[in-house]
Amino acid sequence: EGVASIVVVCLTFIFTSAQTVPFKELYIDQYVDHFNFVSYGESIFKERYLLQDQWWKPGVGPIFFYTGNEGSIEEFWDNTGFVFDIAPEFNALVVFAEHRFYGKSLPFGNKSFSHPYVGLLSIEQALGDYAVLLSTLKQELNATSCPVITFGGSYGGMLSAYMRFKYPNLVAGSIAASAPIFLLSANSKRDFFWEDVTKDFNAVSPKCVDRVKKAFVMMDVISKKPGGLKELSTTFALCKPLTSMNDYHHLLGWIRNAFTYLAMMDYPYPTSFMGNLPGYPVKVACGMILNNTDAVKGLYQASEIFYNSTGRLCFDIWADFIECADPTGCGLGFNSRAWDYQACTEIHLPAGSNNITDMFPVLPFTNPIRNQYCQKTWGVAPRDLWGQAQFWAENIKSASNIVFSNGDLDPWHRGGVTQAPNPSVGVIMIKGGAHHLDLRGKNKDDPASVIQARNQEKDYIKKWIAESRQSQ
Ligand SMILES: *[C@@H]1O[C@H](CO)[C@@H](O)[C@H](O)[C@H]1NC(C)=O
Ligand SMILES: *[C@@H]1O[C@H](CO)[C@@H](O)[C@H](O)[C@H]1NC(C)=O
Ligand SMILES: *[C@@H]1O[C@H](CO)[C@@H](O)[C@H](O)[C@H]1NC(C)=O
Ligand SMILES: *[C@@H]1O[C@H](CO)[C@@H](O)[C@H](O)[C@H]1NC(C)=O
Ligand SMILES: *[C@@H]1O[C@H](CO)[C@@H](O)[C@H](O)[C@H]1NC(C)=O
Repeated sequence: EGVASIVVVCLTFIFTSAQTVPFKELYIDQYVDHFNFVSYGESIFKERYLLQDQWWKPGVGPIFFYTGNEGSIEEFWDNTGFVFDIAPEFNALVVFAEHRFYGKSLPFGNKSFSHPYVGLLSIEQALGDYAVLLSTLKQELNATSCPVITFGGSYGGMLSAYMRFKYPNLVAGSIAASAPIFLLSANSKRDFFWEDVTKDFNAVSPKCVDRVKKAFVMMDVISKKPGGLKELSTTFALCKPLTSMNDYHHLLGWIRNAFTYLAMMDYPYPTSFMGNLPGYPVKVACGMILNNTDAVKGLYQASEIFYNSTGRLCFDIWADFIECADPTGCGLGFNSRAWDYQACTEIHLPAGSNNITDMFPVLPFTNPIRNQYCQKTWGVAPRDLWGQAQFWAENIKSASNIVFSNGDLDPWHRGGVTQAPNPSVGVIMIKGGAHHLDLRGKNKDDPASVIQARNQEKDYIKKWIAESRQSQ
């Protein structure tokens, strides 16, 4: 018995140490409005950040700073192992900052999402928070000469690059993983996303794509016949049966959302980032889709891989999936409100699916649809020209010391930088890489391409740190 319990203790230890690196949870007072000294006066809020200094050489080692994106910061802490894998050899201080209006950093509590408070949610304000936090930490920790390297994935990758664009005085270099910065150009093509989700399934098997298309056609036929909505409700194990075509369209969105995440999170090993998924989930889904004699049932089983990570008995498609200004999904809870608002203001996301270049039903998302939705939901209209001017659009020739990495399996990669504008900007394409795979911790199932990408990123970081020390 004694031996058995020791074994259990050891296993628990290994499990937790592999899952999360411990952190100090801290808060900094931030002005709610960095850009207007009058409207909110001295009003402040508490912005959360996580810190780990066990590897830091005080006053000397660099600061590795993760620019938090659209979620609670622990989620990024738990899924950005690359930073912890390399922090010891750099003697780095690790800081992960939470984005305002997400997680525990709500400036006005649960009133944050009403007018006029939500107006303080912008990319500029978030970057301002990060700049103030960095300046404060440098002072308080006697780290004024410590080079700062920013890290981020997806929208966080955009923020990481923008920190270098906007604050080169504070940031020596930036790793921007799977960062679709070109989406903020008014001229951006937006029709690549579902096409590339489809390509991922096609790469596993073209038959898989045919089968998915067939299933959607069958669903369409079933939805229009008497009792059809009830039949679909049973097939998809819905808690509340569909009662209208509007409900039916929501079901289609729910299915497409599952396929989106299977493609984005198509990692070579099981992960629990935005759901619990098996390794190579696209392959697993195609296995089920192709194995099923009933094509619609196959669609259901593929969706279940994404949604049924908690062993539920039925699905509430309204709770699982919220239609919003981001057709690729906004997530859930307060975080989804914040992202929806950002998608209605500065962040312009991909268009809808079209059943021509992709395997999904026609679920359009056009500029007029977006404008109308944003007026109705938030009383705002997007200002695409502002985002384009403010965040440089395609013209990033004056950028320096940034690595833009992208994975070819990632449906976002065509919104990202795939050609270096000048020699001081690195561009890395990761073959077999899904959404910012390079930021994840090392794993025995990593493809050689991601190991090489991480080594290249490390070399850039070394170079930026050396440059920064030389110029002091
Ligand atoms: C907002 O917060 C207050 C105080 O914490 C709580 O009583 C209330 O139920 C919350 N409202 C919503 C809509 O969550
Ligand atoms: C920073 O330096 C000052 C002056 O040398 C010292 O008083 C203070 O304790 C130092 N703070 C930290 C956090 O090391
Ligand atoms: C997709 O397009 C094909 C070809 O036009 C059509 O036959 C099919 O019904 C469409 N599928 C759906 C789900 O509308
Ligand atoms: C497909 O079905 C066969 C026969 O039932 C089974 O052996 C196989 O594991 C299934 N494959 C997948 C990917 O589910
Ligand atoms: C979800 O998974 C659990 C456990 O694996 C299973 O019992 C349940 O039937 C599944 N729910 C649905 C709706 O398929």
